[in-house]
Amino acid sequence: MNDILFTQDTIHKRLSELANEITQKYHNKQLLLIGVLKGSFIFLADLQRTLYKNGCTDTEICFITVKSYFAGKISSKHPKIVTDIDCDVKGKHVLLIDDIFDTGNTLAYLSNVMKARRAASVASLVLLSKPARHEVMYRPTYIGFTITNQWVEGYGMDSAEKGRGNPDIIVRTNE
Ligand code: IMP
Ligand code: MG
Repeated sequence: MNDILFTQDTIHKRLSELANEITQKYHNKQLLLIGVLKGSFIFLADLQRTLYKNGCTDTEICFITVKSYFAGKISSKHPKIVTDIDCDVKGKHVLLIDDIFDTGNTLAYLSNVMKARRAASVASLVLLSKPARHEVMYRPTYIGFTITNQWVEGYGMDSAEKGRGNPDIIVRTNE
């Protein structure tokens, strides 16, 4: 059995609030959204459309693939860029988008990478955060929901590549 943690309605309401905040912050600025694959792809697609509806229409998008889970659910402290973005971040306002801030190693690393590439500013947005698991000082700029230490899937997030298509976010209880 699986329990629903956040329904698609709850997710979309929160996404609207976040899009409002972001629209106000980046008013009249060009924003580069960098999605961390694969988990962010559905979240990012919804976010970009919600931003557009809010009037934040000047957004570019690109993707980066970082591997931090080499053996199932065991996190690596040394994330590696597997596929890099195909655009120059120099002078741009970057918003990194990830599904979950877990140990935090991925976003802490990517934030430093984008700063080193001389982005005009670097912020980050995560849908979920698991404070009990954080290992780094870095914190995301925007957080959708804070959750306890449990494995979730759906809305783009997987368990061993399964479950990404579920429109709700669920907690696996059958393992
Ligand atoms: P971090 O570097 O430990 O913060 O790793 C974050 C990445 O781990 C996220 O982008 C997810 O891909 C993955 N992750 C962490 N917890 C979960 C989970 O509960 N479900 C699915 N993926 C997770
Ligand atoms: Mg991920």
